[in-house]
Formats: sequence, structure tokens, C-alpha cells
Amino acid sequence: MSGVSPLSDPRIVSDPYPVYADLVESEPVHWWEEMGAWAVLRYADCAGALTDPRLMADRMAQVLGIRFPGRSLPPENIYHRFTGNVMMYTDPPLHDALRRATRSAFSGGAHRHYSRVIEEVARDLVATIPDGTAEIDAVPALAAELPVRAAVRAFGVPEEDLGFVVPRVDMLMTYWSGPLDQPLELDRLLEALTELHTYSQELVRGDRGEVVPETVIARLAEAPDQDAECTPEQAVHQLVLLLIALFAPTTPGSASSGMLSFARNPEQAGRFVSDPECAGNVADEVVRYNASNQFTWRIASEDVEMSGVRIEKGQSVALFLGAANRDPEVFERPGAFDLARRNSGRHLSFGLGPHSCLGRQIASLELKWFFAALLARFPRIRPAGEPEWNPNLEFRSLRSLPIALG
Ligand code: HEM
Repeated sequence: MSGVSPLSDPRIVSDPYPVYADLVESEPVHWWEEMGAWAVLRYADCAGALTDPRLMADRMAQVLGIRFPGRSLPPENIYHRFTGNVMMYTDPPLHDALRRATRSAFSGGAHRHYSRVIEEVARDLVATIPDGTAEIDAVPALAAELPVRAAVRAFGVPEEDLGFVVPRVDMLMTYWSGPLDQPLELDRLLEALTELHTYSQELVRGDRGEVVPETVIARLAEAPDQDAECTPEQAVHQLVLLLIALFAPTTPGSASSGMLSFARNPEQAGRFVSDPECAGNVADEVVRYNASNQFTWRIASEDVEMSGVRIEKGQSVALFLGAANRDPEVFERPGAFDLARRNSGRHLSFGLGPHSCLGRQIASLELKWFFAALLARFPRIRPAGEPEWNPNLEFRSLRSLPIALG
């Protein structure tokens, strides 16, 4: 259990897959010394762990100790109130009750409405590129804009509030997943969480004016008392979590890595345009090929064995969804970006089991409509320079992607 792990080398962020492949061969459950955790890389182990009740999602008290050694906070602090009352960091039965409390916004009918809205969002976004443009940086021009526009039109975040919400979410995401050595003040972080909480409360109460009807927030605001399982404060915590997930780097990370995949594999753009079945597989293959959340965390509530390694009670595990998606035991030629792949949908990019992504359908709609609009107008996109990745393996996303529009 010693030595510098290849997973800690910051250079791997641009292409972590050779390192994953080596580890899967030599040490599929690998002690990641610098993170004090087990890195789990095989598909079967990751899928098993995501559905194993002995591996708990309740982990944020430990994260506080790692990020801010020596600091502790009383139970009534916003940090513990939030992390102890959102679906992402709680376990059943509380988790299930909190998740059910959001169901009015994630029904089949609601998604049919979001699909229509997101189709328009994607079309309008691609139309912002002026005719005759030869090259763009596709991250600021398109990938970063997609979730922001969907947040306004499908989720109902008032456009004038983006300048308030986005920087606070960025700070929280840096805390959850950014490098350990950056200067980050706990007080500033707690302030951002409190401000988002107050803001969400005002949104739900209607204190910030009428929210656009039929959006996610409007649906949540209409049904605050419907569910006796959940307190009004817990309902607000779920909305804060949704805002964080909404403006996290996951959707832009998938949109931009998908553009890179098409630019580097022009025959796949041809397939997308000519074969409706391949077009229908686009969101799944884009997120399988590059998971924007490369790994997620659990803590063992008792001793657990994986690939012959004993994980002791209390130890942390990092489940490498991005490595599982390239496991040759599940995916043939896993390193090929292939829209005709039959089982792309088995990827773990949205997790699996009780915590599987609540926004999976919405994020998939965003990707589907975005690539439909983009490739209909620019079917010959090509790389126009070296892409630049953000220095964060956990939430892996591009900072810059020069593409020629063809
Ligand atoms: C491409 C974009 C996205 C990716 C790759 C992604 C990925 C994930 C993953 C891997 C998990 C499971 C984490 C775990 O098991 O520890 C998750 C959970 C979650 N996601 Fe997403 N997500 C995306 C977009 C969204 C969006 C747009 C929303 C907003 C509605 C959202 C809301 C959530 C929520 C609320 C959970 C927690 C579910 C639970 O714990 O029951 N996600 N996501």
C-alpha cells in the first residue's frame, strides 16, 4: 500500500485510458495512496459496488476532514444539513424518500415537454454561429452554453440570476472535486452554500417572481407539500443539489468531448447523418467513450471483497466509471468511438442503482438534440489545433477545443 499512483499524475487527464488498461491488467483494485482510497477499475466491480448497500454514499463528513484537516462543524451547520439531506450523499431509506420528493419534475410527461424545449434550445444555439465561420473554440461557443440555455428554458432558472448562481456552483464543484492544494476558504464555501439555499427557498416560494411554467423548478414549486415524507427544508436542499448538478462540468464535458470524438472520427458524423439508428445511440456512445464524471466515491460500511482484494470497513473507494466504460470484457474494441455499437447503453457514466443520475434523461436529450443540430449544419467538423483539458480527472472536461467547421 505505498508508492505514487499513476492515477495521481496530472498529465493523464488528456488520455487516462492507457493507465486504466495497465491497472486493469495488473491491479484492478488499486491502492491510491495520495487519495487514501481504493481505485476500482473493472466494469463488474464498479457495477457491483454501485448496487451494493454495504458501500455507502454518505461520505461528506470524511470529505470535510480531507479538504480541511482539523476543522469540524456542528451538526446544525449548513454543510451537514445539506450533505446529510440530499439524495446524492444519503443512503436508503432517507435517500429514496428525498428522491421521490422530486418525482413531479421527472415524470414521463415532464420529459416529453423538456425534449421539445431542448430541441429548440439546441437549434437556436447552433444558429448563433455566423454563416461563413471557418473555425471556433467549441467550448465557450457551444459546449459551455448548452446547459446554461437549457437551465433557463427547461429548468426555469431566471436568466438574470445566472451571474449569481454559476460562480457559487463553480466554487462548490472545485471543493467537491478540484485539486487538494488550492487555496479555498471554508467560510467562503459555507457562505456560498447558504446563499444558494436562501436563493432556492425564494424561488420555490415565488418570492423571486413567477417561474416559467412547466419547467423543472415550476413543477417542484407546485408540489412542495405533496410529499409528507420530506420536510420543506429538505425539498429546498434537493433544489440546491439540482442547481449544482445543472451547472456542473458534466454536461459541457460530454458535449465537448463528443465534438472532439466526431472531429477525430469523421466517418461517425456520416453515420449519424445517414442512419437513424446510429443517431439514436449518440448520447450513450458519446458518454461511454468519455465519461465526464470519471469516478465517484463510496465508503465501506463493513469489510467487502472485490477482485480478490479486501476493502476494510471505513475505507473509501473511488469507482472509475470511465475505466469501466472501456472494459474489454463488456465492450468490444472499447477504444473505438462507434455509433453502431450495440451495447453503448451499458456504460456507467450516469452511475447505476439507487443513485443513478436523476438528470440522465435530460442530459441525454441535451446531447441528442445538440448533435442533431450541429451535425445537420456542420457535418464535416475537424480538429483545428490541440484540445486543452481542465486539470481535473474526477470531472473531466475540455477547457478549449478548436474545430474547423468544414
Ligand atoms: C452528462 C451529464 C451528466 C453526467 C455525466 C452525470 C453523472 C452522474 C453520475 C455518475 C451520478 C451518480 C453518482 C454516484 O452514484 O455517486 C449522478 C447522479 C445525479 N445526477 Fe447526474 N450527471 C449529468 C447531468 C445531470 C443533470 C443535468 C442533472 C440535473 C437534473 C443531474 C442530477 C443528478 C442528481 C440529482 C444525482 C443524484 C441522484 C441520487 O443520488 O439519487 N445530473 N449523475
